[in-house]
Amino acid sequence: MNDQEVGEYWNRNAPAWTTLARAGYDVYRNHLNTPAFFELLPPVAGLVGLDIGCGEGYNTRLLAQQGAHVKALDIAPAFVEAAQQAEAAEPLGIQYQMGSAAALPFEAAAFDFATSFMCLMDVPNPPLALQEAFRVLRPGGFLQFSISHPCFTTPHRRNLRDAQGQPYAVEVGGYFEYQHGQPEEWMFHAAPAQEQARHAPFQVPVFNLTMSQWVNAIVAAGFTLEALQEPCPTEEQMARHPFLRKARVVPYFLHFRCRKPL
Ligand SMILES: C[S@@+](CC[C@H](N)C(=O)[O-])C[C@H]1O[C@@H](n2cnc3c(N)ncnc32)[C@H](O)[C@@H]1O
Repeated sequence: MNDQEVGEYWNRNAPAWTTLARAGYDVYRNHLNTPAFFELLPPVAGLVGLDIGCGEGYNTRLLAQQGAHVKALDIAPAFVEAAQQAEAAEPLGIQYQMGSAAALPFEAAAFDFATSFMCLMDVPNPPLALQEAFRVLRPGGFLQFSISHPCFTTPHRRNLRDAQGQPYAVEVGGYFEYQHGQPEEWMFHAAPAQEQARHAPFQVPVFNLTMSQWVNAIVAAGFTLEALQEPCPTEEQMARHPFLRKARVVPYFLHFRCRKPL
């Protein structure tokens, strides 16, 4: 499967994804993953940044609200359109365009920093996407990105629950079985059942690299690995959003901060 074919899947997902995410049902993103990402992010005010795989633009808008001058791209036209509509409604100076992480339509060294929120595990060739991010960063610039945690997002995965129905473990398997774009069905399970029923489940092509493949691809691209983070919900976050409890059992997400050497 190539990038364009992956983009077609995401383009079909985009209308329902945008509706449900903007209704607040992407609870993991809004209340765990994104807050942790921004805690790890160095100051970006006044910097020129690129957001790769921006979707409908939720995280891109947060970057702009921190004072960064942001360009953003996505491979799915329906997502770019949704993001542009939000920009037109409440301008933050963000320039959105279509494009692929595998062939960034920008000059070398054009950006002080790049971000990618939950996109790079969805591209067929993550090492190439990392090389592209490296190319468009100026020396000394950084890339920070989040992915589904490769150790716990495996072809076989099952939540185990105790007698009270509380999750206490995750059974994983097939860690080394590479999947080249087999679509996985997915939904925002925080949405009420009648809301979920209004939409077909999302189809997300899966490309599962192992942990060592990720780290080796970062190093091979030329980056220095600066920080790793595995967001874990606090007691307070879980009290406010009980849905996050499962992410206390094992990490759902993994964040990398990588620096292009001077
Ligand atoms: C899980 S969504 C995340 C969207 C957004 N970053 C967020 O945090 O809400 C993954 C995004 O990656 C985009 N994507 C997938 N392959 C891509 C590629 N090769 N180049 C650019 N974007 C891509 C999809 O269209 C989708 O918007």
